[in-house]
Amino acid sequence: MSRLGNSSEEAAQGAGTTLWRNARLATLSPDMAGLGIVGNGVLAVRGGRIAYAGAADGLPSHFPRDASEVDCEGRWITPALIDCHTHLVYGGDRALEFEMRLAGASYEEIARAGGGIISSVKATNGLSEDALVEQALPRLDTLLSEGVSTVEIKSGYGLNVEAELKMLRAARRLADLRPVRIVTSWLAAHAVPPEYKGRSAAYLDDVVLPGLEAASEQGLVDAVDGFCENIAFSVDEMRTVFDKAKELGLPMKLHAEQLSNLGGARLAASCGALSADHLEYLDEEGAKAMAEAGTVAVLLPGAFYTLREKQAPPVAALRETGAHIAIATDSNPGTSPLTSLLLTMNMSATLFGLTVEECLAGTTREAARALGLLAETGTLEAGKSADFAIWNIERPAELVYRIGFNPLHSRVFKGQQVSA
Ligand code: NIG
Ligand code: FE
Repeated sequence: MSRLGNSSEEAAQGAGTTLWRNARLATLSPDMAGLGIVGNGVLAVRGGRIAYAGAADGLPSHFPRDASEVDCEGRWITPALIDCHTHLVYGGDRALEFEMRLAGASYEEIARAGGGIISSVKATNGLSEDALVEQALPRLDTLLSEGVSTVEIKSGYGLNVEAELKMLRAARRLADLRPVRIVTSWLAAHAVPPEYKGRSAAYLDDVVLPGLEAASEQGLVDAVDGFCENIAFSVDEMRTVFDKAKELGLPMKLHAEQLSNLGGARLAASCGALSADHLEYLDEEGAKAMAEAGTVAVLLPGAFYTLREKQAPPVAALRETGAHIAIATDSNPGTSPLTSLLLTMNMSATLFGLTVEECLAGTTREAARALGLLAETGTLEAGKSADFAIWNIERPAELVYRIGFNPLHSRVFKGQQVSA
């Protein structure tokens, strides 16, 4: 009797199942060593979620014989990629400043002279919400074409309440226009706008804190970020912003130790932040604090490369302390006009010395962790959203090794094949 009962229940569960067969899987499961490789693998997908991910000969017998099947012809499947740190919504570009930097000006000099972030603020605030969406779409499409299915997008080029909210609304709208999961961060504490020059406390009181409340009330924000740096906000100022985040029940993250060591990473860790990002000037104490708090180290080689930085993040210390490492494009008009997560992997390996495994984990499992989404996506494991990428490659290292070549075969988002 129990056999009958079980099988009818199992048959019901099996309705609408698709089996992705004859695939090599890099599951990235934390329960498996390395990339979590399965040589002859199957992914069973039902209701947009992974019902089984593993060896073909381990597929439970209750999966229905009439399930539809996709023959992957031996291709590799990884979790869909995740870009966990971007500023994808903005107006204009900063090609002129790029030329100035080529002629010898530094990022800090340009910022102090009213260029930098502030020039993107002017360009962004000159655009309607529709225009912001329109300008962001080609950048988003470029990411998606490489197997990305989750993108974090920050505000931070508005620097007044309404303009920051407009950026977040534009970011949210991208998820209606494309098959992608968008996660938003409130980054009004990105720069002090000229009208508040020398009055950053007033800027926090007038814009950053009340705007955050409004964004939260309007359901526009998933996390709170800030730029903790000499040319931006101090540790104490960021503590004030994080106190408000805690009050609102929002997770935190921080641009920290990019150009100097102010102790931002320690602040982030002490607040239980999801991540601290950049980290070129992170010290051992900061790395330890992050590892203990479970705050993910998000490394951003695109900014390091663009600014021609000399000091790489302390990867050895991060490994020693056992900190989680993710990597992201930091796609933004100033310091990282980069819309390729594949190139980001290559840069992370070549510039920072990350291994292939760290690069792939850093754009899947660890990126999901950095967004607080590890229960939902980032690995090929039963129960998670069926977000995966199918690749025309012979070994996973190819995803890191090639420069300017995209071997994506297709992308599956929430169980649906969304690109050919
Ligand atoms: O992540 N570090 C601060 N924010 C951006 C730079 C933004 C800009 O220059 O427009 C970053 O690198
Ligand atoms: Fe950034």
